[in-house]
Amino acid sequence: MAGVAVCGVALAGCGSGGAQAKPSLKGQVIAKTADVPVGGGKLISDLKVVVTQPSQGVFKAFSAACTHKGCTVGTPKDNVIRCACHGSEFAAESGAATKGPATAPLTAIEVKVVGDGIVVA
Ligand code: FES
Repeated sequence: MAGVAVCGVALAGCGSGGAQAKPSLKGQVIAKTADVPVGGGKLISDLKVVVTQPSQGVFKAFSAACTHKGCTVGTPKDNVIRCACHGSEFAAESGAATKGPATAPLTAIEVKVVGDGIVVA
């Protein structure tokens, strides 16, 4: 029985951790600005999204799936998003991997502020 459970290269999302925000997130309020401290952030674990405020009034969001092995990263602190699994660190501003073992950036999710909410753009 060949071919069982083989990941097809033609299909996206096979075994790559599913890091993309679901299309259904578009337009959805994922956090309140008041819940995201400057220099810190908020992990929305059920959506696997992490929101940061690297500087006053600037909000960023990323997939919370670590680009190393897919663990969910922790709540951002001191403008750093850390993954507790193997110690990778990512910049809260850009999602760039600043400490390994992860080398790829967290997947950015476009967001905008609408009223007091952070909305997926
Ligand atoms: S899964 Fe995040 S550092 Fe390994």
